[in-house]
Amino acid sequence: MTLRKLVAGNWKMHGLSSDLAEIEAIAEASRGYPQVDVALCVPAILIERASRAVPGFAIGGQDVHHAEKGAHTGCVSAQMLVDAGAALTIVGHSERRDAQREQDSEVKAKAEAALAAGLDVILCVGEILEVREQRAAVETVLAQLDGSLPEQSATGVELAVAYEPVWAIGTGKIPTTAEIAEMHAAIRDRLAGSYGPAGETVRILYGGSVKASNAREIFAVAHVDGALVGGASLRAADFMPIVAAASVDR
Ligand code: PGA
Repeated sequence: MTLRKLVAGNWKMHGLSSDLAEIEAIAEASRGYPQVDVALCVPAILIERASRAVPGFAIGGQDVHHAEKGAHTGCVSAQMLVDAGAALTIVGHSERRDAQREQDSEVKAKAEAALAAGLDVILCVGEILEVREQRAAVETVLAQLDGSLPEQSATGVELAVAYEPVWAIGTGKIPTTAEIAEMHAAIRDRLAGSYGPAGETVRILYGGSVKASNAREIFAVAHVDGALVGGASLRAADFMPIVAAASVDR
């Protein structure tokens, strides 16, 4: 099945009021690619201003708390993201799994809370270099997936899984297309096993050093249904060629 591609930018801890013009430029240019879904996941504090600046364009968060509300100093709930204008959120990014020690069970709870609030979810999984070198990447990622996939995904399309090898993030290194193909096929099988037919419609994004120069090759790999882009999503000039590559029919 060919799925509509999703190209999402992850701005991480980048973005001030002065960057709203860049978000506007990306939203405007994205209109030229109606066959691709484009989104930008920005710092929580910028979501409301960004979503007001680009009505109709998908602005997302980068994390969400699993609880509806309560004594969780500094955290943001799914309903708060929706209230600010977010359409989606990332959960389980490796930088949070590492620095905030997020475990699979917590990532799963976050994904479930976000879906319940009506947000689309990009759920990240990926192996560290040592695991890849031990040839244990596929089993490790599938175990992460089993632990962090939400219990139910109504239609599949509201959920995307981003395969992001940790060693490829921000490093300029990427796996071979054969390694990406192997992993994405394994994830697709597992999604179909977990969700049945709905699992066929969950998009599987590749993330980790995606740029204009490698996007076409990555998007040509079977079961690559889009990309999660960090550094190259900060400027329209770097990001839009990736969106353009996703729009090419093959
Ligand atoms: P990168 O980041 O594109 O800068 O490697 C990807 C990510 O962390 O989502």
